[in-house]
Amino acid sequence: MTDPGTGRSAEQLRGWIAAELDRTRARSALLTEAVDDGDLVRQHSPLMSPLVWDLAHVGNQEEIWLVRDVGGREPVRRDIDDLYDAFKQPRRDRPSLPLLPPAQARAYVATVRDKVYDLLDGVVFDSRRLVADGFAFGMVVQHEQQHDETMLATHQLRSGPAVLRSPPPPEPSARVPAEVLVPAGPFVMGTDADPWALDNERPAHRVDLPAYAIDAAPVTNGAYRGFIADGGYDEPRWWSEAGWRHRCAAALSAPMHWRRDGDGWAYQRFGRWDPVRDDEPVVHVCFHEAQAYAAWAGRRLPSEAEWEKAARWDPTTGRSRRYPWGDDEPTATHANLGQRHLWPAPVGAYPAGASPLGVHQLVGDVWEWTATPFRGYPGFAAFPYREYSEVFFGDDYQVLRGGSFGTDRAACRGTFRNWDYPIRRQIFSGFRCARDARPDEARP
Ligand code: AVJ
Ligand code: FE
Repeated sequence: MTDPGTGRSAEQLRGWIAAELDRTRARSALLTEAVDDGDLVRQHSPLMSPLVWDLAHVGNQEEIWLVRDVGGREPVRRDIDDLYDAFKQPRRDRPSLPLLPPAQARAYVATVRDKVYDLLDGVVFDSRRLVADGFAFGMVVQHEQQHDETMLATHQLRSGPAVLRSPPPPEPSARVPAEVLVPAGPFVMGTDADPWALDNERPAHRVDLPAYAIDAAPVTNGAYRGFIADGGYDEPRWWSEAGWRHRCAAALSAPMHWRRDGDGWAYQRFGRWDPVRDDEPVVHVCFHEAQAYAAWAGRRLPSEAEWEKAARWDPTTGRSRRYPWGDDEPTATHANLGQRHLWPAPVGAYPAGASPLGVHQLVGDVWEWTATPFRGYPGFAAFPYREYSEVFFGDDYQVLRGGSFGTDRAACRGTFRNWDYPIRRQIFSGFRCARDARPDEARP
């Protein structure tokens, strides 16, 4: 496989786009057909939309960007734009809106998709930015995949019998060191070249970092249990001021979806309780918990730039690569992505996905909290709309990197940036730690 849009004929690009659209819709269908209509229209958590809102919202965005903007075709349902506008409808109000019922929502997204296939047949991938390399199609694929991850998080919050199943992720097949030293020096952060990269990943720019050490794997349940057992949740000195306030207000005492189980812990995954396994990355922790753990461990969270240099920088060529393992699209041996497995894989399960410096499981498994608030890179320009990223820039959101087991490969790469409020943990979020290099280590 090669990158979408690079070295492809228009016919190959058309075929790639059609396959990506199909694959993505199959996932959306699975997530919305796994439950009955009552469960589709219900709000499973005030943080989430009813699943039937996500479904029609995905179709509505596809209609706006592809049918109307790229295709110049007549609207299918202009009358429902406001209902499915995430900025006009706060989440808590979404269940009481006059939403399309499940059968109509399915018919609507199918109608939109038929029109998209029709216009894909004749579209000319000329140099207009919206269509060059099929960008708008790529944006729509990524948008639906992002909502598929959101819908998976809704499933995780849903009560009732389990409906989703997956085979377990692979067992460890490599020994992973505790940490890896990254030498001082510049690297290229972000991208100009990746045709489907979103506005916030651009432009490529040079960042010079002092030497640092970063964990070779995400922090595991076993390590995190050490923090709990040591009274980490009851010790304000490990927490930031905002973190401690939140810890108290929300009565945090363990990751979300954990409960005590005899001497140990159990973790609820999509309606089933399993013992917490010590060698799996911890998931469902908020930024404040990650930051407190790091302080307790005598470490800190990596900055976003430190995360990206560890993931993309190739010390042999000095180039930044698309993924830790190189430029090739992820396969099942590189990373735990794409909802193939419904929980993080144990540390050491993906040696083929390690970076040149030997950092493992950067992509897939768990989104990793970074110490960096979400901002535009120097020279940022919103495209094609301010509401994708720019309106979220500022101190309110922290950047997460790398994607989780719930993230599709189309919506994840070494440059991909996710963001959320520091108190959120219904997402598939974990972290790894870093530290400054000591003077004796920093010497070249
Ligand atoms: C990039 C995951 C923060 O889900 O809020 C979906 C993606 N933007 N629809 C989100 C998104 C518009 C976004 N995140
Ligand atoms: Fe959306």
